[in-house]
Amino acid sequence: MEWPIFQMPFIGNRMLIAVVALIHVVISHGLAVGGSFFIVSLHYKSLRENNKRLGELAYRILRIFFIITTSVGALTGVGIWLTTATVSPVTIGSLLHIFFWAWFTEWIVFVVELVLLMLYYLGWKKYGDATGFKIGLFYLAASWLTMMLITGILGAMLTPGKWLVSGSFWDGFFNPSYLPQLVSRTFLAALLSIGFGLFIMRFFKAYQDQYPVVWRWAGKSLMILAPVFLFGVLSYYHSLPQQIGHLIPTALMTLKYAAYAKISKIIFMAIVGLMVLFGVILFIKQRDYGFISFVPVFLLIIAFGSYERVREFIRKPYTVHNYLYSNGIRVQEEPFLNKIGVSEFSGWVERSATETDPQLRLGEKVFKMECAICHTYSGLNGITRKPAVLQNAEIIDNFLRTYKRSHPYMPPFIGRDSERQALAAYLDKIVNHANAQPANTEGNY
Ligand code: HEC
Repeated sequence: MEWPIFQMPFIGNRMLIAVVALIHVVISHGLAVGGSFFIVSLHYKSLRENNKRLGELAYRILRIFFIITTSVGALTGVGIWLTTATVSPVTIGSLLHIFFWAWFTEWIVFVVELVLLMLYYLGWKKYGDATGFKIGLFYLAASWLTMMLITGILGAMLTPGKWLVSGSFWDGFFNPSYLPQLVSRTFLAALLSIGFGLFIMRFFKAYQDQYPVVWRWAGKSLMILAPVFLFGVLSYYHSLPQQIGHLIPTALMTLKYAAYAKISKIIFMAIVGLMVLFGVILFIKQRDYGFISFVPVFLLIIAFGSYERVREFIRKPYTVHNYLYSNGIRVQEEPFLNKIGVSEFSGWVERSATETDPQLRLGEKVFKMECAICHTYSGLNGITRKPAVLQNAEIIDNFLRTYKRSHPYMPPFIGRDSERQALAAYLDKIVNHANAQPANTEGNY
């Protein structure tokens, strides 16, 4: 409550984070972690078979990986920090409290990774075969380590496991979904990199003589990696249900999640099947089929986007499960705030409130504190677009008192009765008396 409230106009806070994060996830998995695997593998092959031209081709592909990871990849990485910390400073603050040393270490490893990437790329010719290849191996290890570290923190948000009781760093880090998530992310990275690598390779026509060598290798790798990836994803889903049992209190949500999970499992299986098929074709025919060949990778990106979406979705109404609600209120604070009121501690919201009537002003503040993290005014998930539920002040007040049971993905209303009534009055005004809407309600602090 002691932080400014940020509302992203129209697309909403969640979509803002999702867009930045999706770009970052695709690049960090496909081009950085996976990219290092792709290049180092080809590098190794070129040395073992004494095939200089294959090495040159790998170097050229590395240049593209290098440019994209150090520009768009690094920028969106910072972008995730910026957007998440702006939207939910309490969440990021809490995670920093719990995982300070993991983050600290991750940052150091990340710097090392970038230095090694530069040495690997810029020193390719200078350091010669043996040393150059060793640098590549260290680069591969460092980039995987960054993923290994950040996965612990990400996993703990959804499945904090024993940490909730023990408060121990290690319980949080090695949480129940950690290992399956790490396995699926690792193999996803390798799969994506093969797709990207083959795609980029097509632009280096001067090395066409090497294409069959790469295709054969890629085909073999796909056949091996894709099933392991599927195993990772399925065991990830398996690691959730025991949690979900008490994660999500109502049958409705469990049903929704179950349907979600089932469909996405089938989709993953189909995509992995396609990838294996593509692998077999590459291996036997040693050729690709233009854009058709990249369909499996494209589908994989979409499926992985949905995997991240499911992960974020089933975590609602928390950002750290059972510990911190999405709107930054700690579960433990709930009884206290119900007694004392949420608006007591809200200097920042006070500054941004535009209503002049005291009751509406109180309602506006409560809305900004408790609802605005997920609802825009009239954009995505806009609150003014829900007139069916928010018909008049009385019905709204009733909704606020009871939605905890019917809408478990939203944090319960927290605060005093007078605050709830004020929120109801405010919602009634902005939903049902549109022409009386405050002039400046979007995107302000
Ligand atoms: C954690 C995110 C989150 C928070 C915080 C949140 N909501 Fe929601 N809310 C949602 C989602 C998601 C939906 C469903 C959107 C959909 O079905 O398209 C929703 C739906 C609604 C609906 C429509 C319900 C229906 O049955 O159609 C209302 C009304 C609503 N929210 C009001 C509020 C109010 C008031 C607050 C603050 C006290 C609030 N929400 C806080 C995520 C949130």
